Amino acid sequence: MSQRFKDKVAIVTGAAQGLARATALGMAREGASLCLVDVKEDLLEQTRKEAEAEGAEVLALAVDLSRRDTCIDVVKKTLARFGKLDILCNIAGIVRIQHVKDVDEGDWNLLHNVNVAAPFWMSQAAIPHLIKTNGNIVNCASQSALKGAAYVVPYSMTKGAIVMMTKSMAMEFINEPIRINAVSPGTMIGTGMAEGFSFPEGADETLFARYSGIRPPAVAEDVASVVLYLASDDARVVHGAVYAADKGTTAD
Ligand SMILES: NC(=O)c1ccc[n+]([C@@H]2O[C@H](COP(=O)([O-])OP(=O)(O)OC[C@H]3O[C@@H](n4cnc5c(N)ncnc54)[C@H](O)[C@@H]3O)[C@@H](O)[C@H]2O)c1
Repeated sequence: MSQRFKDKVAIVTGAAQGLARATALGMAREGASLCLVDVKEDLLEQTRKEAEAEGAEVLALAVDLSRRDTCIDVVKKTLARFGKLDILCNIAGIVRIQHVKDVDEGDWNLLHNVNVAAPFWMSQAAIPHLIKTNGNIVNCASQSALKGAAYVVPYSMTKGAIVMMTKSMAMEFINEPIRINAVSPGTMIGTGMAEGFSFPEGADETLFARYSGIRPPAVAEDVASVVLYLASDDARVVHGAVYAADKGTTAD
């Protein structure tokens, strides 16, 4: 097993399950110390135990990232525990599958707070520390940021914002020793988001089939290996990129 994250300190948001859990465990196996963050305390505790069993030192924070002060606090606590920060993986996210007519202000605000504001505030707090370590950020977009997707309009908008946050921050910090990238997953099965999936009443399922892809869906570990690559020194020339990990869904 390679040790790409030996002596590295990483924050992984959304680590209770799914893609972020797979990312955290992959980093643990390859030598990282981890700050794992999620709002779901019990599942987060399980990931903490699994990461420790892989030999990682872990700080687990069961917090809601939809507030700026919480994001700042996560970075502060990571620095207090480990003394530095090398990697920030902004993976926590939520989806709402609904007709445009059914979106209310609560859904709208929550989607934007969790999927856009939290990665922004986490990045804002982390960047000064990442510059000191020649570190990097991996954000999580979605194929629905790159391809129109029915019944997830506000979600797609938040993921489109992540694409532009990634590229714009990459430009603002182009003269600093930091890399900022995003992974753009296609459909993953077995994650919390996938298990919570259901069609809204009256939905045209053929529209969904168009962007669920031709190849079988991925599992979290498949996409996590792309996150690990982007977060590692193997990707030292990759900056400002949005890496499609979608089995070709956005190729057509
Ligand atoms: N599953 C898919 O098909 C798919 C496809 C494209 C993109 N994505 C993206 O991949 C990322 C991971 O998704 P997943 O499928 O692993 O989902 P998941 O539901 O398994 O994991 C997301 C995690 O984020 C956490 N989270 C949500 N709100 C939070 C908050 N306010 N504070 C802290 N933690 C919070 C959840 O508790 C959950 O554990 C998301 O950003 C998602 O948008 C998923």
